[in-house]
Amino acid sequence: MQRARQLGRYHLLDRLACGGMAEIFRAKTFDARGQLHLVAIKRVLAHLAQDQHLIQMLVDEARIASRLRHPNITRVYEFVRAQGEYFLAMEHVDGKDLKSILDRCRAREKPLPIAHAAWIASEAAAALSGAHDLADTDGQPLRVVHRDVSPSNILCSYSGEVKLCDFGIAKATTSRVHTKTGVIKGKVKYMSPEQAMGRKLDHRSDIFSLGAVLYEMLALAPPFSAPNEMDLLLKVRDARFTPLVQARPGIPPQLAAIVERALARSKTERYQSAEEMGIALKALIADNVPEYTRSHLSRYLRKVFSEEIERELRLLEEYTLGEPNPSMLGENLIADALGPDALYTQFTPLVAHDAAPHRERKVYPGTPGGRAPKDLDPSIHDAPTLIIRTSRRR
Ligand SMILES: Nc1ncnc2c1ncn2[C@@H]1O[C@H](COP(=O)(O)OP(=O)(O)OP(=O)(O)O)[C@@H](O)[C@H]1O
Ligand SMILES: [Mg+2]
Repeated sequence: MQRARQLGRYHLLDRLACGGMAEIFRAKTFDARGQLHLVAIKRVLAHLAQDQHLIQMLVDEARIASRLRHPNITRVYEFVRAQGEYFLAMEHVDGKDLKSILDRCRAREKPLPIAHAAWIASEAAAALSGAHDLADTDGQPLRVVHRDVSPSNILCSYSGEVKLCDFGIAKATTSRVHTKTGVIKGKVKYMSPEQAMGRKLDHRSDIFSLGAVLYEMLALAPPFSAPNEMDLLLKVRDARFTPLVQARPGIPPQLAAIVERALARSKTERYQSAEEMGIALKALIADNVPEYTRSHLSRYLRKVFSEEIERELRLLEEYTLGEPNPSMLGENLIADALGPDALYTQFTPLVAHDAAPHRERKVYPGTPGGRAPKDLDPSIHDAPTLIIRTSRRR
């Protein structure tokens, strides 16, 4: 048993990832009814927490991200300063990011089925469409561009949902901090030519990046790769890639045409909106696999990641929560943008003792009657959270 550490309104559980700027944890919190919520916490690494310029940039970006309310975008709850640390609390997606899915396909030497690739891309296109169309309260377009559409920022839940996350380096007209010219932020492999060249860009840059991600889902190799960054930049600048029909023989020409249109060097030759690209992908699915639903993706992920699913469930059981301290909630630095009734205000590290714990039956899509697959122990989901009192009288 491990003791979960409290950070703000949350109890930190296992670490999902650690990058150059932040670490991601699963965490537990409760609402006023005592209902347990699993959230994802992105905690800024300690040595960066001193950089006020960076923190201001993250606050601005979290403020924009928190305004994106879309079923295909991970919901942002709050950006908090607590106990000298900064962190973002967001919706936890119980599943795998697309990079892990593609790595698994490469390891198994099995392609990602075409229908899943088209479905994932169409859902990501819906997310982009929602973000690109965001307007401020006066109806002025905010011109949000994600800028980092890449496999690690596309999350697929085990129930087959697809969610775009990390509008972390998104910039909108309201953002006060601008990227310095010449500083490239993001992953070059998935950048549009204009982004790689440090030029001004608009939403059509994200469409190109989604094209690069879709290409990789189909070919299991990215459209642009080179032994060094300079050569890579040149390939991206010229949008030079091996035609998809060569990289993945047998691919429906209709799908290859969608990818190539998204990857057009000139932005005027690409889809002019993410919605348009999404419609083309949905039409392709309807023509070729009319019976396709998200439970197809769910079944696939449950099969491919069955061992991880079991391990992840067991890990949740490994943690006991220490005695919650309600004075350690910290300060939500984007509270002004969220208003007084925002969801995070209901989150508390405390279990309500007077509230009967409300339990929802977990539904497993793709299984008979939504029951847990035989290899999973559903009691883990229903297990009450244990609170251990640590304060001992001497
Ligand atoms: N809301 C979330 N729910 C579940 N898992 C998440 C969530 N956010 C991130 N993750 C996991 O953490 C991983 C690392 O995320 P992080 O954003 O720190 O790095 P990255 O995506 O590799 O880089 P970047 O976002 O800077 O391009 C993701 O790929 C995903 O597996
Ligand atoms: Mg990310």
